[in-house]
Amino acid sequence: MKNMSVELCGVKLKSPLIAASGTFGFGREYDEFYNISAWGAISVKGLTDEPRVGNPPPRIAETASGILNSVGLQNPGVDAFIRDELPRLVATGVTVIANVAGSTVESYTEAARKLSDSPVAMIELNISCPNVRQGGAQFGASPEEAARVTSAVRGVCSRPLMVKLSPNVTDITAIARAVQDAGADAVSLINTVAGMAIDARARRPALANITGGLSGPAIKPVALRMVWQTAKCLRIPVAGMGGVMTGTDAAEFMIAGATAVMAGTANITDVMAGPRILRELEEFLDENGIEDVNELTGSLILN
Ligand code: FUM
Repeated sequence: MKNMSVELCGVKLKSPLIAASGTFGFGREYDEFYNISAWGAISVKGLTDEPRVGNPPPRIAETASGILNSVGLQNPGVDAFIRDELPRLVATGVTVIANVAGSTVESYTEAARKLSDSPVAMIELNISCPNVRQGGAQFGASPEEAARVTSAVRGVCSRPLMVKLSPNVTDITAIARAVQDAGADAVSLINTVAGMAIDARARRPALANITGGLSGPAIKPVALRMVWQTAKCLRIPVAGMGGVMTGTDAAEFMIAGATAVMAGTANITDVMAGPRILRELEEFLDENGIEDVNELTGSLILN
């Protein structure tokens, strides 16, 4: 029997495959099709201390090999999540990661403090949402701001803390080192790549917010490069994501240095993506005579 389990900053996951935040809601829609505890973990839609209605529509546009979104962190707020969604998720047996966003340091700490007292296994600090006017990627754009919010949340958070990084920066390794030094237990990367789509006939932007975040296969080479660069300069583990559509894609992220892998856009184009990618990753291990999925992490051969 091969081993598929990994440990991500002290949390044991039954497989390295995690549903990426924002593409899986709170699991309700997928639970109708399969047992969502098939995932190693799920990272829920970004939660803020107060409910948010998000950006006006249209907020999704299809592009070649990707999806552009500008949802604007629509969510019911942390209190409603803990009351209405978390008990059902916990009952499925799946490991729950709470993705936390905010517009000020105080709003991040307030949300993280409440979640620390709940049964979530880990907090993913979202300092990389490109679609909100205040907060979000503003915190992820400089090492100083990223460290400031990480350190404040670390101070109130008893759960393992993973920080989700933006690719829309000059040097992602500087931000990664800053959050590591500020107390992060792991980093996840990459969030979406800032982009834009235009309806040429109408001469209008395809999204009401004008710009959005690009995800899907188009961004995989960018994501792999950043995961590789980041993993080799950190002491803490990396969860890699960006265009993971198949088991082989997941293997590539682990070979680049990731301990765990998140699949996002794949859930939107294939409702069964979670169990399928996991099965394909197992097949990849079988085909390559690998007994333990952890053997993949950081196994890139450079000479
Ligand atoms: O617009 C959004 O809700 C996106 C969030 C994110 O990329 O973190």
